[in-house]
Formats: sequence, C-alpha cells, structure tokens
Amino acid sequence: MSNSSHFFYSKITICLLVFVFSIQSIQADNGHGLWLQNKSTAKVNVVCAKKSPTLIIAINELKNGWQGKEGAKVVLTIKSNNAIKGDGFKLLSNGIQANTELGILYGTYELLRRQTTTKDIKEAISNPSYQHRILNHWDNMDGSVERGYAGESIFWHKGADALVVTEKDKTLWQEYARANASIGINGTVVNNVNSNPNMLKTETLQKVKEIANVLRPYGVKVYISVKFSSPSIIGGLKSSDPLNPDVIKWWQDKAKEIYNIIPDFGGFLVKANSEGQAGPQDYGRTHADGANLLADAIKPFGGIVMWRAFVYSTSNEDRAKQAYNEFMPLDGKFHDNVIIQVKNGPIDFQPREPFSPLFGAMKKTSIMPEVQITQEYLGHSIELVYLSTMWEEFLKSDTYQEGKGSTVARCTDGSIFSQKHTAIAGVANIGLDANWTGHLFAQSNWYAFGRMAWNNQITSDRIADEWIKLTFNQSSTGKSILSNDWKDNFLKPVKQMMMDSREAAVNYSMPFGLHHIMSANEHYGPGPWWAPARMRKDWTPPYFHQADSVGVGFDRTKSGSNAVSQYHEPVSSLFNNVNTCPEIYLLWFHHVSWEYKMKNGRTLWDNLCYQYNTGLNQVEEFQKTWDKLQKYVDEESYAHVKERLERQVKSAQLWNDGCILYFHKFSKKPIPADCKQPIEKLDDIIANDLKRKMPWVRG
Ligand code: GCU
Repeated sequence: MSNSSHFFYSKITICLLVFVFSIQSIQADNGHGLWLQNKSTAKVNVVCAKKSPTLIIAINELKNGWQGKEGAKVVLTIKSNNAIKGDGFKLLSNGIQANTELGILYGTYELLRRQTTTKDIKEAISNPSYQHRILNHWDNMDGSVERGYAGESIFWHKGADALVVTEKDKTLWQEYARANASIGINGTVVNNVNSNPNMLKTETLQKVKEIANVLRPYGVKVYISVKFSSPSIIGGLKSSDPLNPDVIKWWQDKAKEIYNIIPDFGGFLVKANSEGQAGPQDYGRTHADGANLLADAIKPFGGIVMWRAFVYSTSNEDRAKQAYNEFMPLDGKFHDNVIIQVKNGPIDFQPREPFSPLFGAMKKTSIMPEVQITQEYLGHSIELVYLSTMWEEFLKSDTYQEGKGSTVARCTDGSIFSQKHTAIAGVANIGLDANWTGHLFAQSNWYAFGRMAWNNQITSDRIADEWIKLTFNQSSTGKSILSNDWKDNFLKPVKQMMMDSREAAVNYSMPFGLHHIMSANEHYGPGPWWAPARMRKDWTPPYFHQADSVGVGFDRTKSGSNAVSQYHEPVSSLFNNVNTCPEIYLLWFHHVSWEYKMKNGRTLWDNLCYQYNTGLNQVEEFQKTWDKLQKYVDEESYAHVKERLERQVKSAQLWNDGCILYFHKFSKKPIPADCKQPIEKLDDIIANDLKRKMPWVRG
C-alpha cells in the first residue's frame, strides 16, 4: 500500500483494529476462528520505522501470534529489492523485508504460519503468481447467495435493511479481510455475477465504500459485478448499446462517481449475453465492444474489467465449444485493462473437466482462470471434498500451446505471455454461518484457493498439511501437534482423507467423465433422468450423457461435435482417439459402447458399476477414519463432521443406486455379482427427486 493511501484511514479504523484483536482471543470452538492464530507463546520485540494501519496490523499479528524465541527481535523493513515482485516479501533471519506495506503483512502471516506449522524459517523470497487474487461472491442484494451453502450474505441484508451497515457487520468484514490477507487474497467482488442494476445506484455505492474502508488496511480491494443494461435500466437511457455516445458518457460519468466515492476501487466483473443476462450482442455488437466500453470508462482511474467467457446460447452447437467459438475471433481486440475470466473447464465447474481450450489459445489477450470454491456440483457444504487437488490438476494441465510445458498456470501467470494484468478468481463459499463455510472442512477450500493464487506451483499436499495444523492446533483438546501421536494418528489420516476426497466425489458422481447428470434440483444428488419436455436441451442430463442401447458418453471427436479440434496438438489427437484419451475423460469425449474393453480388461459397463461402488466405499472409509479421531478434536467439530459424513454416505449411496439402475435400463447388462447391489428402487429415487422443490431457473 502506498504512502499516499494513508489519508483513507481514520482514528475509527485504528480503534476498530484494536477492538477486533481483543475479541479474537475469546472465540469458542465453533470454527469462526478459521486457521488464524491468536495465542502467542512468547514475547517479541517488533521494530518498524513506519506506522500505518497496515503496519499496525502486522505488528499486532506478530505480537499476538508469536511462537518463536522469547524476547526475539523482528525488524520490518520496507526497502525495494528487484528480486521481490509486487507485494512479495523476503523472510530474513531477523525480520521481513518487502517493497510495500502489504508485502510486510503477507510476510508476517507467512512467518507465523511457518512457526505454527513448525516449518524451518529460512531466508527466502516469496512472490505472488498472480497480481490480482480475487474472491467472487455470488451474493444478492436481498441477502441470499446464489449457490451459497453457508447461510446468508456477509455483505447484504434482507429487505429494508439491505444497505444498512452495523458495527457487527464491520467486525465481521474485518475478520473476513484478515482471513483473506493471511492467505494472500487481495480482491473481492461483493455481489453476484447475475447482477442487480441497483448496484450502481449512489446509495449502494455508499455502502460499498463502507466495505472498502474496512477491507483496505488488509489490502483487499473491492470490485462489483455490473449489469450491462444498467444505462437503460437505472440511467433512463433508451439503449445500452456500447457504441452509443450517450451510453459511453453514462459509463464515464458512473466511473467518475464511483472513484470519487472509492478512490481505490478495483473494477468491474461482467457476465454478459449468458444465461439471460443482457450484453453487447443484444445490439449487434461483440463482447470486445462491450468490454472495451467499460474498460475505457475506468481506465483513467486504474480499474480493470473482468469479462466472463462463460457464454453459451440455445444453438445446436455443443455447449463445450461455444465459449471458444465466441472469444477466439476476438483475440487481440480487447483493451489492455480487460481480462477475460475463463472457468477452468469448458462447461461448468463439474467435479472433473478437461481444461478449457481457451487457455493458452488467446495469445494477445489477458486471460484469468475462474474456479468455484463453493461446492455447487461437489456436494454443497454437506460433503467433505477438498478441492485443491482439482485445481492443482487443472493448473498443471499442459495445453501445449507454446510447446511442452505450457501449463495453464504458466499460460495465465505471465510466464509465457506478457499479460498486462494477471489474475485468478474463486467463487466464494462464505456466508453468515458461524464457521463461515457451512462445513468445517470447506474452510480448507477457501484457504487452498488463496494459497494457490499466491503460489500456483504449491502442492495440495502441503496446503492440506498446513491447514490441518493451523486449524486443529487451536482445538481445545490440548494435544500437541508436535507429538508423534498427533502426527501419526490425526494429521496423517485426515490428510489422506482430504487428498482422496475429490477423487471419491468423482467416483460416485461422474466416473470416466460422465458429466452434468446431477439432479436439476439445486444440483445436489443424481438426476440423469431429468428432461422435462419444454426445458432447453443443454440444461438436461440426457443431452450430456447421451445414453442409448449401444453405449454412453458425448461424442466430441472429429466425427462428433469436434470439440477436440479446439485443443492444440498433441492434446487434440490424444483426446480424439478412444485408445489414447485418458480414461478420466473417456465419456467426456467419446460415446463408448457398453461392451468397450477398458485398460483393466473389464467392460465399460462393469467398470462404471465398480467405480460408483468405489466412490461409496471411499466415503464409508472416511466415516470410519473420522470415528477414530474423537479424542483429537473438540466435541462440536467432531459431531459436526460426523453428522455430515453420514449424509455424504447417503448421498454416495443414492448416486450409486440411481445411476447404476438408470443406466442399466440402457445397457441391459447384469450388475457384476461382486458389486454392492443397489438397495433402493429406481422408481422411488426418481419420484423423490421430482418431488423436491422445482429447480431454480433464470428467465
Ligand atoms: C452456473 C450456476 C449459476 C451461475 C452460472 C455462472 O450455471 O449454476 O448459478 O450463475 O454458473 O457462472 O454464471
């Protein structure tokens, strides 16, 4: 944070900081404390030549969380060093050096993390992989959260109080900011991509200013999602055509107003011409026309536009191909403060997707990955699924766009293409629940997102190790995380469970790439049968699984939809050939006969049955693992996780039974005798599914 930003801070901010630090020490074991440490084991002498709200936070964190030598001296030095990039830092034997105040804060959290997780503290430089590391909240102004499973919004209240700001809100935002800063997150989009035009009204911007004021000392910038048709909806204009001079002026004036209210405002996130949202195509213009309009308006103030590539229409074109078809012809046409935000896979945050072919392909445009932290398709906050392994797989995927080693990580972090801006976004899983994320273990996904956004080469294993130590170290059971007992009998099995959990979810919900077959009802549980007559086809599971008497899977080969052609060689040929296509993506790219012999010698049908079983067995094992861990965790956390694992087993059972019985209607093959036989009846499962609340569908 620059010196010039000090004028943002008031005495009130400083008082609030003191208040939050004093209440943090009395939190109960309800998970609210996250992975943050608040108990020093020794005194420390922190020396810092400057004072500012950010530096005060760093100093207080060190004093309140110090685990090092009694009476040690820690020197915080802001001094530029070419090897330190942006808000990176250098840990020294007796302190922290950084170019910026935020670098000092990030270094502080790293030092404390290392002390607690008992890692060696060596001299080392740590630089962020991405400049902008952003959470996307899908929070609505009425307090609800789209695809949120942890309670109402932390930013917006229900009803008439929507714009009210209380002291309680500010405390919560402060805790939120601290959690984010501790893992390197430096931006937040405070409202849903399906945006309400009222977000741009002055009274709403005044509330956003209040949020920004609280988040600022922690280095978390505020962004908002905007509705493209705002000029006509709230501006009284006849059109929102991006080339219309009145529309251009409206956005310029709005940008001026925003920056007047929030001088360090981050910028806009936009979902346009997608799932019913307005966009430039409504006026015969392109996504580039639309994005550049907004980008030009905020350019004088240093803002960025994150324009989403999640677009598809009701055409007959394979949905997996549409974003690429739409955006590739526009490569090079976006202004330099536009970043195209691309979901990790070409469809929609499924438990396993191949990487989106846009990564590495748009060479003259800044591209940023978007992952989903909230578990829309991965068991909501009911199921224990550690998503870090999925993101690691994605970031390490080799696009071959600039030869071998052109991983998604390197294609987006500036290592290969000289992007003006580098960024990564995660759809937040945070709400008003006491433990923030609904499921205690879902905290690890928030944590992992931040750690990967900071360092896109870090391993999921290391993140899990850190998170377990930081989180359960605070438990009231008094077990030392240094003891061999704790390491062998708690850390090890819990880590194993986390590391296996995403694969287990894939096994019981989308084996071999069999995607988008979840219940239409809130995307929880199986629903391969769901296909109401008037529903658009690409919102129904049969469109995706294509099961018939011959086989199952979506043919995206050259003789099918040819989505494979969007990938660079050799990936394209690898996916196109059924014999070389990785089996994890088999049914994503191929319609395969039930009799098809897979690598293990069994038929596809038999393998499908076994795979559903494997997923179910894995969750039953998780349950057994957790049952043995009671003495290592506080009662509340133990019971909470136990209850959710019971529900996860039921869900895995339902996936197993529902899918095996449903696909059996097409394959007509016997379920292998040594497989667990379904215990439910298909008709009952379907009837129960259809009885549930009708799916939420946007107009
Ligand atoms: C999914 C999700 C929607 C969301 C959309 C998006 O389709 O179900 O709720 O609005 O993604 O990312 O825009």
